[in-house]
Amino acid sequence: MPRSKKQNLNKDKPPILSRRRISFQAVKGTKDILPEEQPYWDFVRDTVRKIALEYSFGRIDTPIIEDTNIFVRGVGSKTDIVEKEMFTFKDRGGNSISLRPENTAGIVRAYIENGLANKPQPLKLYYLGSMFRYDQPQKGRFREFHQFGFEILGAASPASDAQMILVASNILKALGLSHFSIKINSVGCTLCRPAYKETLVNYYQGQTSRLCTHCKRRLKTNPLRLLDCKEEKCQRLANNAPALIDSLCEECHDHLKEVLEQLDELQIVYSLSARLVRGLDYYTKTVFEIWPEKTKGQEEGSQIALGGGGRYDNLVKDLGGEATPAVGFSCGIERVIMQMTESKIEPPSLRKIHVFLAQLGELARRKALVLFENFRQNGIIVSESFSRGSLKSQLKVADRLGVKLTLILGQKEALEGTILLRDMETGVQELINRDKIVGEVKKRLEKMRRKI
Ligand code: HAM
Repeated sequence: MPRSKKQNLNKDKPPILSRRRISFQAVKGTKDILPEEQPYWDFVRDTVRKIALEYSFGRIDTPIIEDTNIFVRGVGSKTDIVEKEMFTFKDRGGNSISLRPENTAGIVRAYIENGLANKPQPLKLYYLGSMFRYDQPQKGRFREFHQFGFEILGAASPASDAQMILVASNILKALGLSHFSIKINSVGCTLCRPAYKETLVNYYQGQTSRLCTHCKRRLKTNPLRLLDCKEEKCQRLANNAPALIDSLCEECHDHLKEVLEQLDELQIVYSLSARLVRGLDYYTKTVFEIWPEKTKGQEEGSQIALGGGGRYDNLVKDLGGEATPAVGFSCGIERVIMQMTESKIEPPSLRKIHVFLAQLGELARRKALVLFENFRQNGIIVSESFSRGSLKSQLKVADRLGVKLTLILGQKEALEGTILLRDMETGVQELINRDKIVGEVKKRLEKMRRKI
């Protein structure tokens, strides 16, 4: 093979790793979800599924990768998400692909592509999955994060906006969270928003030197975002800016009024937030966010939203479908779990292992494996360490797991059909007939539970 060709072939090969020890780390802003965290994730996912069913939402899963243009058109080319935060790459066919930074645009694409508009409307959908944003990682902010989300497509009524807020609030409550607040606003529509933008730009004229560099640029590209800049000097100016709510057209005004009245009827507490504008361009009319209550001494800027959403009446049309009003929200699962752990909320499925099964010798190990199955079928979680030989090292594992009972099966017991039951608290050991051990353990665990 000519030399130049050989070089070309090697070009796309991964570099040959040297033999010295290397250590890999998870990609910046991503993290592993370890076994001990899984009960929280299961609890969140189970609760979302249960509530989705109660409100008759159907599950939808869309691909993690989408045509980049879906987000450029859907989320908005001048948003932070599209300008700075997307993981975008060219595939081998030269198409621009992005890891989804959010799921609403993808769902709208699926709605159009699969003819879901032909199904009985409104169409109520929910999802759970990872999203990706190339942001600076910090507490509660990751580059890969997970959301649960709900969307109602083909629904113009303010009742749907209120139902979305109700569903979000009920999920958080079902997870045990009670200290959160709901902020709500209206960003108007294509009729009233342009005039408001002009009013806003006029307000900032002559004060631009007092804005942060981002806002100076945003004033030209996306002036609404000046209202929710986290910089203190920008916030001071935003506080005195004309409120969007005062510029709403009659339809948007009435819509907001009805949403608020519905929320009152449902006894959902909310606060009107004139500066809430959201970071995605597809919103029309209602927007809302859910925030954890501020803890003592916590600064405003250090807070992170648990979830957010709103109405997006133009998105289906903007992505090539028939005009279809829609509303939805999503919550960040990492942030919800963080809030749960900070509030010391334990998922009910966080079942502690109460029994350890130790064995000594070949025959005992074989019997232990059968016994393990017996326990499992009876709903008792048993831990073991079949690969460890010595009793001492197995008891050490039992100790570290903090189990209440340890079962010891030696050669003698294996032959005689018995087993030793050791109470880890008192250290007392009893010889029990192996046929009776499952019932005996069940009885004792029940007794311990009643004591707690
Ligand atoms: P979003 O406000 O961009 O809205 O994201 C919703 C939630 O996802 C946030 O409130 C937060 O909890 C979580 N989240 C966002 N970025 C990160 C991150 N980098 N790390 C951890 N969690 C994060 C949307 O995504 C819209 N699609 C919501 C929607 C649905 N609007 C209508 N339908």
